[in-house]
Amino acid sequence: MDYLVQPAPARSASVTVPGDKSVSHRALMLGSIADGNTHIRGFLAGEDCLATLAACAAMGVEIDRHDATTITVHGVGRDGLEAPSAALDLGNSGTAMRLMCGLLAGQGFDSTLTGDASLTGRPMGRVITPLEQMGARVDSRDGKPPLTVRGGRALDAVEYRLPMASAQVKSCVLLAGLYARGQTRVLEPAVTRDHTERMLRTMGVSLDVGGGWVRLDGGQSLTGTAIRVPADLSSAAFVMLAALLAPDADVLIEGVGINPTRTGVIDILLSMGADIAIERRREAGAEPVADIRVRSSRLRGLDVDPALVSLAIDEFPVLFVAAAAAEGRTRFSGLAELRVKESDRIAAMASGLRALGITVDETPDGASIAGGRFTGGRVESHHDHRIAMAFSVAASVADAPVTIADVDNVETSFPGFDVLMRSIGLDLQTRRPDAA
Ligand code: S3P
Repeated sequence: MDYLVQPAPARSASVTVPGDKSVSHRALMLGSIADGNTHIRGFLAGEDCLATLAACAAMGVEIDRHDATTITVHGVGRDGLEAPSAALDLGNSGTAMRLMCGLLAGQGFDSTLTGDASLTGRPMGRVITPLEQMGARVDSRDGKPPLTVRGGRALDAVEYRLPMASAQVKSCVLLAGLYARGQTRVLEPAVTRDHTERMLRTMGVSLDVGGGWVRLDGGQSLTGTAIRVPADLSSAAFVMLAALLAPDADVLIEGVGINPTRTGVIDILLSMGADIAIERRREAGAEPVADIRVRSSRLRGLDVDPALVSLAIDEFPVLFVAAAAAEGRTRFSGLAELRVKESDRIAAMASGLRALGITVDETPDGASIAGGRFTGGRVESHHDHRIAMAFSVAASVADAPVTIADVDNVETSFPGFDVLMRSIGLDLQTRRPDAA
């Protein structure tokens, strides 16, 4: 499917975006190996998390879906998973594959993990290396999926210094650490999202967190709990940008997760001159949430602080569009990880912005973007949900219609994106690529 977007800016509205992807994956995985039931409200019913759900079910976990976003996971305990009868297909989801790999390294059975064309091209050496240091064996196709995790191996704790800032790798090692003899310690070069640590604690696991490290003792059990999943700030970011770029909008996004390891996008937009207010701060279980109010603003270009990169890692497609609409030049650096996301996001954004008339100089780890106006045109999403959504927002303030090709993967993280964007005033139609 493609999106055909006619110029039409956002208008004032109050909206709710779907549940947090990272928290939804973790609720399913940790709930599966907990003792007792885990009740999840606000679950993200997107394809990525549904792939995790299917994988957990394929390993014998009973999961009741009361409605699309309300779920009960009947935990089977830390040693209760059963061998799946076929390969686990994790679709487009790097989080599912990398976390699942850590979980499966400690099981008594072999399992194979695979995925779609994007996922099977992504690097998995980053999880295989620490797991093999712990005594696991993971077969791969030169560091890429499919992965076969060999079970029945005794794991030893490890002290592992992450070579890149990655919450997925950190979480993988911590999950394997639950099954290892001794104390596992992970050190990270920059702070990354800490949803795994928070959720493990609420499930009764004791773990210590210091400046740049986290450690836990192996052999601990988890207890099922109630989890309220906050709305996903990474999805809210598209709505925020649509409101900022509109000539006269005041948009309230309710109940969004504002975990400080995720809020880099807010800090960067604020430093570009955005009018963003955080209202009604509260706790939803282990995670802080708030309503976010965004008003139309004139954005200014700047040099983005690379220290904020790991706190905004999924929001650079949105931030590139913000830069392209800002006054002056914006320089991004420290973004090498973006080249191994669902697509090479630096290249995908640079070529799409150029197709809409923006001047972009690409560097190995970033880009320099000169603010301007978006012309109409056609951009490729490279099967990447966040590229498709970022360009939808650019198109809302373009001078002419924009076609965004190949948007099916928006379903991985933001089901109902088109409906929600239309509800705030965008003119975005889904159509078959061969339609006139
Ligand atoms: C995620 C971590 C990030 C992020 C991804 C979700 C997670 O990846 O890009 O969308 O849930 O742990 P890295 O930690 O590998 O950068």
